[in-house]
Amino acid sequence: MGEVHIVDHPLVQHKLTLLRRKEASTKSFRELVGEISALMSYEVLRDMPMHEIEIDTPLEPMTSRVIDGKKLVFVSILRAGSGILDGMLSVVPSARVGHVGLYRDPKTLVAVEYYFKLPEDLEERDVVIVDPMLATGNSAVAALDRVKEFGPRSLKFVCLLTCPEGLAAMDRFHPDVPIYTAAVDRRLDDHGYIVPGLGDAGDRIFGTK
Ligand code: URA
Repeated sequence: MGEVHIVDHPLVQHKLTLLRRKEASTKSFRELVGEISALMSYEVLRDMPMHEIEIDTPLEPMTSRVIDGKKLVFVSILRAGSGILDGMLSVVPSARVGHVGLYRDPKTLVAVEYYFKLPEDLEERDVVIVDPMLATGNSAVAALDRVKEFGPRSLKFVCLLTCPEGLAAMDRFHPDVPIYTAAVDRRLDDHGYIVPGLGDAGDRIFGTK
């Protein structure tokens, strides 16, 4: 099994519980996705490369460390990835952004690509692909297949929830990509939903149902 990081910080778990509740309004669902994603980014970006710069404090010059946010690319799997993207951008506003548009064929659950745009020079960049639900794994596997064609310096995958089926798909096709999630739920149902889960993340973020 590839690396799976379960971010079990109490703040993340508390907000995840609020997010799962069917009473959560569109407004609070969207805010919670942003807050959880921002909190998770501390763990996801723990090993970000840093470099030293010279600065002046009010008292004296010193050498201090900074990240190079421009080297980081968040790739959002449309449309539900946008919720996580906003939260992560609130922490690293200078990150570059790519998009992969995929929809799930409702009969076959296969991922069909309708949009693809990435920043240039991916071989010099660290890529974090985001999608709230790693369910069948079809979208994540398809997005990773495409992004890998551009040879990124490093790759990570971030979701809020997954299940054994999603982890098995990632382990089969992309065992080299570390996964960050707030929880691993019990299973997938016959419609490809994670149970107990939180329902359709896209519909809940955008209020489309
Ligand atoms: N996508 C969702 O939005 N929810 C699930 O449970 C599975 C896939």
